[in-house]
Amino acid sequence: MRILLTGGAGFIGQHVRQTLLKRGHDVLAFDSLRKDVHFREKSEQTAPGSFIHADVRDAEAMDRALKGVEAVIHLAAKVGLGVDVGDLPDYASSNDAGTAELLAAMARARVRRLTLASSMVVYGEGLGMCESHGAVVPAPRSEGALSAGEFEPPCPVCGAPLGTTLVSEDTPFDPRNAYATSKVAQEYYSRNWSRTTGSSVAALRYHNVYGPGMPRDTPYAGVAAIFTSALRKGEAPKVFEDGGQRRDFVHVRDIASATVAACERHRDGVRAFNVGSGTPRTVGEMATALAKALNGKPPVITGQFRLGDVRHITADNSRLRRELGWQPATDFETGMRELANSP
Ligand code: UD1
Repeated sequence: MRILLTGGAGFIGQHVRQTLLKRGHDVLAFDSLRKDVHFREKSEQTAPGSFIHADVRDAEAMDRALKGVEAVIHLAAKVGLGVDVGDLPDYASSNDAGTAELLAAMARARVRRLTLASSMVVYGEGLGMCESHGAVVPAPRSEGALSAGEFEPPCPVCGAPLGTTLVSEDTPFDPRNAYATSKVAQEYYSRNWSRTTGSSVAALRYHNVYGPGMPRDTPYAGVAAIFTSALRKGEAPKVFEDGGQRRDFVHVRDIASATVAACERHRDGVRAFNVGSGTPRTVGEMATALAKALNGKPPVITGQFRLGDVRHITADNSRLRRELGWQPATDFETGMRELANSP
């Protein structure tokens, strides 16, 4: 298939591009090479004719790019949590307006298949298990509670401590920051477009992606990259809260294989898929694994917190396994060792 890959020069984009090429697809990568992410690169490594340097909000460039295309994988976005409220307009413009422009262009070009990079952040805090009240939506954590070192969100009904659970794709949206809000918006715009044009959408809700080539030393870098950079400088990884927050760290090659499977196999209507390894770990465990692999200083638990952070969020990936025949190939220990030893 001829496939347009937006965000094709990014961390996930480069891995998706490699996987698509291995599967014999004809890939046109499209990327604005945002300055806040691509400040290191000197030139693009792609073959002539297979890369367009433009922004998805540029309708003319998009019309040009979509000629002869059968499917689009839309990864181009402003990522991260956002540094402060001044980031709001850029999230809305890059992610919400960017997706709206892409969908309008796809409708003009009659391209009917979209694979969208969404995120687990759409679920906010997800669900917690209360012994008395079952599955409940934990309330947002207040600044006062976090400052007092009370990191676990309590049951919103009785205040009892909550156990964790894996969230399914039917969990209601509860975006807690600008990035999360923009991912929910992208999913809704895509649904609107699907209904009006009779097109298909696979929304892939990625968990915490890590692996070789992940962005480093930017305010938008993920925690695994931050810890790796610190350890390489001879510093201890600084673990926020008490280190007990749970995430699902999923390897970027597994993200790429899930994305390509969705692009190839999902053909009807709108479907969301959680993409996680299925083996959650705490941030403290991750810091310890990297410190060991790099023979560096042991992690320091700082008690610091970020107001937009959720405590625990872990995915149930069974729909992706069942419906698209996907399974992760890289386990946590192997993946973290590889990250530690990659340039
Ligand atoms: C990440 C992604 C987000 C994605 C989501 C999917 C990044 C920057 N964010 O969000 O794009 O949609 O996963 O689930 O990749 N932490 C520390 N020390 C630090 C930095 C962070 O302990 O120096 C902690 C944070 O408090 C948090 C955890 O690490 O509890 C993860 O943080 P981060 O890597 O920013 O990812 P998410 O917020 O989970």
